[in-house]
Amino acid sequence: MAQAKIGIIGGSGLYKMDALKDVEEVQIDTPFGPPSDALILGTLEGTRVAFLARHGRNHTLLPSELPFRANIYAMKQLGVEYLISASAVGSLKEEVKPLDMVVPDQFIDRTRNRVSTFFGEGIVAHIAFGDPVCKNLAAVITDAVASLKLPDLTLYRGGTYVCMEGPAFSTKAESRLYRSWGATVIGMTNLPEAKLAREAEIAYATLALVTDYDCWHPAHDSVTVEMVIANLQRNGVNAQKAIQETVRRLAENPPPSEAHSALKYAIVTPLDKVP
Ligand code: ADE
Repeated sequence: MAQAKIGIIGGSGLYKMDALKDVEEVQIDTPFGPPSDALILGTLEGTRVAFLARHGRNHTLLPSELPFRANIYAMKQLGVEYLISASAVGSLKEEVKPLDMVVPDQFIDRTRNRVSTFFGEGIVAHIAFGDPVCKNLAAVITDAVASLKLPDLTLYRGGTYVCMEGPAFSTKAESRLYRSWGATVIGMTNLPEAKLAREAEIAYATLALVTDYDCWHPAHDSVTVEMVIANLQRNGVNAQKAIQETVRRLAENPPPSEAHSALKYAIVTPLDKVP
């Protein structure tokens, strides 16, 4: 099977990467069914990468319908060691404006309806998840974005991403609650990916593209799909440049990651008792 050490999951508005060359579509079947779409293998900055449109290339899957396990399993099958997730988010802080970028370092789980583990059915394991984002991969992403000196946007290193179930956006009371928790951004997809990637010993980090002020801001309209898509179209080119520079740096100097040995002390079931 084709191989790629770097994976990219593109969220709403990022259904393909224009700069990919020598593109090959790979249909992968997994024990958890098919991924969201075919994986697109291509060359970016001289390096083979695997790209997946999180919601499918025609955006046909709700956040709650995403085959998270199949997506991460497929990346693992291709040999992915670093996974960059580009995702639209709403801002929960005044200073974090639409079109800014955030590389979160924490998550809060507000999902209800997602299978977020490969374990169970006879194999018990508990990964460490206190630091849910690979800090070295996050540093490569933030350094890459900063080096581009993109005009008119601020890049935030760190911050807390609230992962909600959706598909409806939050109520104002919920949005205010998350703000009172000190959270930075809100989205619907990244936490299950981060957990499964850690279980699969893949380094994971998010490049969050801010599209709106959710619904808490008195001076801004509440988030709508139209707003999200319009702002993504505006900063989609910047996001692709940021990913391209991240890939160049990762290929040149792949950092160590604690995620790569996440299962070392995680599995409780004695290996000779695994069914
Ligand atoms: N994705 C983009 N904006 C969002 C918001 N306000 N809430 C949840 N997911 C989002």
